[in-house]
Amino acid sequence: MPDSAVDPVDTVTEVPVAVVGAGPAGLMLAHRLGRAGVDAVAIDLRGREEIATTHRAGILEADAARDLVETGVSDRILREGHEHGGTELRFGGRAHRIDFRELVGASVWLYPQTEVFTDLADARERDGAAVHFGVRGTEVLDVDTDRPRVRFTAADGTRHELRARYVVGADGSRSTCRGLVPEPLRVRYGTEYPFAWFGVLVRAPASAPELVYAHSEHGFALISQRTESVQRMYFQCDPDERTADWSDERIWATLQARVAGRDGFRLVEGPVLERSVLRFRSFVQEPMRWGSLLLAGDAAHTVPPTGARGLNLALHDVKVLAGVLLRALGAEGEPALADYQPLALRRVWRAQHFSSWMTRLLHTAPGAAPFELRRQLGELDSVVGTRAGRAYLAEQYTGWPTSA
Ligand code: DHB
Repeated sequence: MPDSAVDPVDTVTEVPVAVVGAGPAGLMLAHRLGRAGVDAVAIDLRGREEIATTHRAGILEADAARDLVETGVSDRILREGHEHGGTELRFGGRAHRIDFRELVGASVWLYPQTEVFTDLADARERDGAAVHFGVRGTEVLDVDTDRPRVRFTAADGTRHELRARYVVGADGSRSTCRGLVPEPLRVRYGTEYPFAWFGVLVRAPASAPELVYAHSEHGFALISQRTESVQRMYFQCDPDERTADWSDERIWATLQARVAGRDGFRLVEGPVLERSVLRFRSFVQEPMRWGSLLLAGDAAHTVPPTGARGLNLALHDVKVLAGVLLRALGAEGEPALADYQPLALRRVWRAQHFSSWMTRLLHTAPGAAPFELRRQLGELDSVVGTRAGRAYLAEQYTGWPTSA
C-alpha cells in the first residue's frame, strides 16, 4: 500500500514556519514574521479570488487598523476606510448613539475583511513570499515532533512538502488542524444559537453615517456600509432559511419593519446584489498549542458576528503569536511558546463573553415569552441610560489593549 506520508514529492522546502490557512490571520502572521526576517509559507484550499470575494465582517479596531499601516501591509485603509467614532443602538423605535470617542477615547474603522485580505495578499506578493492558494490533499504530519511537515498538491498539480520547525493552523472555523490535538488532551467549549443572519449587499446610498444595531419585536437587524453606492445589511433569520425564498421586496419589507420607529427612520432601498445565510456559534478549543502546532484565529475559537470581534480577535492572536514564534526560533527556543495561550486566551474569553452578550441582548429567540422581550428592553435601557452602561459597550466594542 502506498503511504502518502512518504510518497515522493516534486519540491521539498525547508521553512521555519508553515501556515495552514491564507486568510487574514495566516497572511498577517506570515507578514509579521517576514518583516522580522523569518520565512513563512502559507497555503489555502481556497483560491485567492474565492477568499477575496467572500463577504465577511466590516469593522476593525483602531489598533488593528494602525497595525496594517505600521507593519507596512498597506495604508489604503486610511484613504478608503471610514473611521467611526460611535455606533447606534435602535430599540423601542428610537435611536441611541454610543459615542466611543467621548466615552473611551477610541474609534473603529469600517474596512471590510475582503479589503484586509486583498491588502495582505498583495503585500505577500510584493515581498516575494510564497503563498499557495487552491491547494488539494493537505496533510499535516509529525506535529508531535520538532520536525513537522505539511504536504499538499499545488493548484498546478505539483506535489510539495514543507519541512518546518513550527506549523500554525490558521485554517478557519472548519479547521482540520485543530483535530490534530489528541482528543484526550483537548477541551471544546461552545454553544449554538437558534437563529442565523441573512446578509445582503445592496446597491443604494448609505442610510446612516455609522452602523445601526436594531432590536425589534420582529428580531434583530444590522445596517452597515461598504461604499458610497453599496451597503451591507443583515437581519436575524432561521438557520435553515433559503435565500431563494427571499425576493428583493421581501428583504426590504423585513429590514424596514425591524428599523421602523416613531422618528420615521427608513432605509434607502435599491437592488439586492448578493444574499447569503450566515450560521454562527460560540466555540473555543483549548489548548491553542500542542507540540509543534499552534492554532490561531477561527481555528481555535469562533464568535457570533454581533459586535464584530472575530477578525479583530484573529489579528490579535497572530500579533501575540508572531512575537512568541520569533522568540522560540531565536535564543529562547521552544519554552517561549508557553506564553502564547495565556496572552491570547484572556482576550478570547472576553470576546466570547461580549459577542455572546451582544447577540443575546439584540436577538429575539423564536418562541420567546413576552417577558423576555420586555426584559431585553429593560437591559437595553440600562445599557444606554447610564454612562457606565454606554462606556461598557464602547470599551468592549473598540477592543482591549494587547496587555489587558
Ligand atoms: C459588519 C459585520 C458585523 O458582524 C458587525 O458586528 C458589524 C459590521 C459588517 O459586515 O459591516
